[in-house]
Amino acid sequence: MKIKNISIIGAGTMGCGISQVFLQNNYKVNLIDISKNILKKSKDKIASSLSKLVYKEKITEGEKLKYLSNIKTSTELNLVKDSHLIIEAVGENLDLKRGLIKKIEDIVSIDVTIASNTSSISITKLASGAKNPKRIIGLHFFNPAPVLNLVEVVKGKNTSDKTVSLIIDIVKDIGKEPIVVKDSPGFIVNRLLIPMINEAVLIYSENISSKEDIDKAMRLGANHKMGPLGLADFIGLDICLSIMETFYKDLDNPKYKPAPLLKEMVLSGKLGRKSKQGFYKYR
Ligand code: CAA
Repeated sequence: MKIKNISIIGAGTMGCGISQVFLQNNYKVNLIDISKNILKKSKDKIASSLSKLVYKEKITEGEKLKYLSNIKTSTELNLVKDSHLIIEAVGENLDLKRGLIKKIEDIVSIDVTIASNTSSISITKLASGAKNPKRIIGLHFFNPAPVLNLVEVVKGKNTSDKTVSLIIDIVKDIGKEPIVVKDSPGFIVNRLLIPMINEAVLIYSENISSKEDIDKAMRLGANHKMGPLGLADFIGLDICLSIMETFYKDLDNPKYKPAPLLKEMVLSGKLGRKSKQGFYKYR
């Protein structure tokens, strides 16, 4: 069966980016959130991102209009009932995600695939207590989703091989590169990336260099697109901290202890780009 009708729950940065990717690959997308305001902003954001592609002559105005006609935004979870794949991209909270999966299972038929875009929560834990844990899988996109080509496909203890192969086909169908990862904290990318960011915060705290030069070091010395402190602001310092805390607890190793400055900044509301202040200031 070719899946062309999907629902995405959570219209934040990731939900929006993932929606755009599916729209540009001719899927029909229901984008669902509890906030009408966030839904309105997300639709405007997708429209503006597509307009930029028209301006750059990567898509035509006609294609943009077609994609936009294929997205339905709603606060009604019931809309998922006709979807063949549901992707949740709500906040990183186990109870919230588990509760949502339970509600989705009450609406959809038993064989519909339910994927989570979680960056750090165990898929096995998410699926525990589910009616059919075989169809629950991790589908981890990277920000900005329309630009970054990797998708981590995370197999929980009870995820079936059929679900994994269906998801790999979908990831390829939307022009992305899948990698299959065992259900382990941070999977691959965040397990490498977030401790590097934490180390950069320690280097900065130890006055080894300025923030600009720490970032320059990795941009010019390792050819990274962004330096680690700039990247921390881009990801959100609260998200970086919560992932480090998960590593510290679940991998039970002191090397993952969150940098004290990272904690202080989060406590004082310096969350990075989204709060206009992190290691750098934003307008
Ligand atoms: N949506 C769509 N397109 C976007 C975009 C967005 N949000 N942001 C940038 N782009 C496009 C631009 O339009 C541009 O397209 P063209 O090449 O066609 O002109 C292209 O991406 C490059 O953008 P810019 O020229 O504006 O700037 P840049 O070259 O500095 O790239 C960047 C911006 C893509 C964000 C790049 O700096 C980058 O890849 N940074 C690293 C991001 C990263 O590491 N993300 C992973 C975060 S970790 C994560 O997501 C997982 C998690 O669980 C925490």
